[in-house]
Amino acid sequence: MCGIFGLVLRKGRVAPMILDGLSRLEYRGYDSIGVAVINNGVLQIRKDAGKIKDVASRLRIAEMKGSIGFGHTRWATHGAPNMINAHPHTDSKGKIAVIHNGVIENFMELKQELIDKGHNFISKTDTEVIPNLIDEEMKSDIGITEATLKALRRLKGSYAVVVLSSLEPDKIVCARQESPLVLGVSENGTYCASDAPAIRPYTNKVIYLRNGELATIDVNGYKIIKVADGSAVERTPEEITWVLEMAEKQEYPNYMLKEIFEQPTSLRTGLRLQEKYVDLLTMFLDRGKEVFLVSAGTSQHSCIAASYIFSKIARLTTYPVVSSEFTEQYGSTVGIDSIILAVSQSGETYDTLKAVDHARMRAATVLGLTNTVGSTLTRVSRAYIIQQSGPEIGVAATKTFTSQVLVLAQLAMRLAKLRGKLSQDELDEYKESLYKVPDIVESVLKETYDKVKDIATREKNSRLFLFLGRGISSATAMEGRLKLLEITYIPSLAYPAGESKHGPISIVEKDTACVFICPRGDTHAEIIGSIMEMKARGAKIISICEKGDTDIKSLSDEVIEMPKNIPELLSPIPYIVPMQLLAYEIAVLKGLDPDKPRNLAKSVTVP
Ligand code: G6P
Repeated sequence: MCGIFGLVLRKGRVAPMILDGLSRLEYRGYDSIGVAVINNGVLQIRKDAGKIKDVASRLRIAEMKGSIGFGHTRWATHGAPNMINAHPHTDSKGKIAVIHNGVIENFMELKQELIDKGHNFISKTDTEVIPNLIDEEMKSDIGITEATLKALRRLKGSYAVVVLSSLEPDKIVCARQESPLVLGVSENGTYCASDAPAIRPYTNKVIYLRNGELATIDVNGYKIIKVADGSAVERTPEEITWVLEMAEKQEYPNYMLKEIFEQPTSLRTGLRLQEKYVDLLTMFLDRGKEVFLVSAGTSQHSCIAASYIFSKIARLTTYPVVSSEFTEQYGSTVGIDSIILAVSQSGETYDTLKAVDHARMRAATVLGLTNTVGSTLTRVSRAYIIQQSGPEIGVAATKTFTSQVLVLAQLAMRLAKLRGKLSQDELDEYKESLYKVPDIVESVLKETYDKVKDIATREKNSRLFLFLGRGISSATAMEGRLKLLEITYIPSLAYPAGESKHGPISIVEKDTACVFICPRGDTHAEIIGSIMEMKARGAKIISICEKGDTDIKSLSDEVIEMPKNIPELLSPIPYIVPMQLLAYEIAVLKGLDPDKPRNLAKSVTVP
């Protein structure tokens, strides 16, 4: 979604830093960019559709002068991605510039009211009402902060808004409601951004704004007040502990590949959870009458995998629900005895937070699993766990999937212990296997990559892919399909293999690529039957199975061999790895940028 980066400096020009900040937010997805600076009291704006590098060099943005300004990457929601609709937007007089991430639901009526009062609109965006509303409020002789407060009180919807005005050229006003915004402080200036990696090169001291808060920043620091009543909020900065290199590409050609290869490390970190939080979440999970696992995208696949683990190890029934459906599907029944475990890498996904809000209103207990310290999800959860994967920049989630499954498996094991559902020996065995997972993933990366590259070369022109698995591997199949779909745009289906004869089999023809996920375990015999059904229709069988699994090998056209003795319930973690690599390789062979797939955003902060 849209990216925001603003700053005010004691010394130096802001324009090059704005471009740097925006490039660190590129992963959020965007189609146009814009920058505003104030120089000698004059507000200047340059903006257009296109990539940061191209627009910046075409419009000579880096040369803009001034020590206060902001920039924006826009991901279109209202109005086509073009120059007119790109942010910043100004009031009709061109004195107040605004950038915005989110959606203003009541913008049509506000726009009409402002047109009736003589304001002109040039874009199709919802954002343009904000600077005009602020201008309207300023007619009653109040300053920019007060006018912004009053304007914000009239908005319905979600926003991170940043305001810059030549009328008060030494400060930036910013506020948030449901869309993320973080402040940063350093010796040389004060910053605001959608996400901490944009600020990290300049400072490790950040302040996360909360919903309904407005901040004024200038060279001396920041002041936070509540939008609702203007009361002051005291908040001291937090220190970011991760180093910037963690979010940079190092020797890899792009972030996705770097993040795939980081998995042994992120999984090792994911095994060092703080005991007290694991215990706390386990206690809540144990008490609930019903447990919903609420999430979107890749996080939903972790939840589906986890539902098998919770059921088999801890004898806990859980309901994985796509967050955008939660309120419709279960909103009327969720209540004081319900537990909502919301899983969100970013902790900012709009639909997931909406579902959580609804559940909280009905007195349910909300638990969180996220990768982002200080995210909204951490603040609205009764208890939460940080999965500790480090920043993930590639839009297609990789290392955060494997870490989520690992953390959820640890919760299931702790619950099994609490409930006395497994013997000590069984628990020890699971624990031992869990601790081997990072090493297993390391060897999978080493041993399967060449084979995957060969398969990618042979299959890159396939018109259709099917991903099939049984039991917990049906979740692995869905995640494998999502990776391929997201970054190669090849139409793909994923199904629990048993269900494939109720529909998907009708589209299988000679050489349709069918990826089967076949770990050893309870579902092994059944998956053989499913492979035979597809093979009989001429499908090309690509199997991911254990080394020496001759039954599967004899039925397959391509085989990716995995280490032996991986328990089926932990198999999604190593078994997804070759599929991440397959999607990656095919995208690269097709000349596509795996880090920035079209139309997708890393963090979906709008409805
Ligand atoms: C977007 C991203 C996905 C991600 C999903 C959920 O669609 O492109 O990679 O899985 O959002 O995000 P979350 O941050 O809630 O896990």
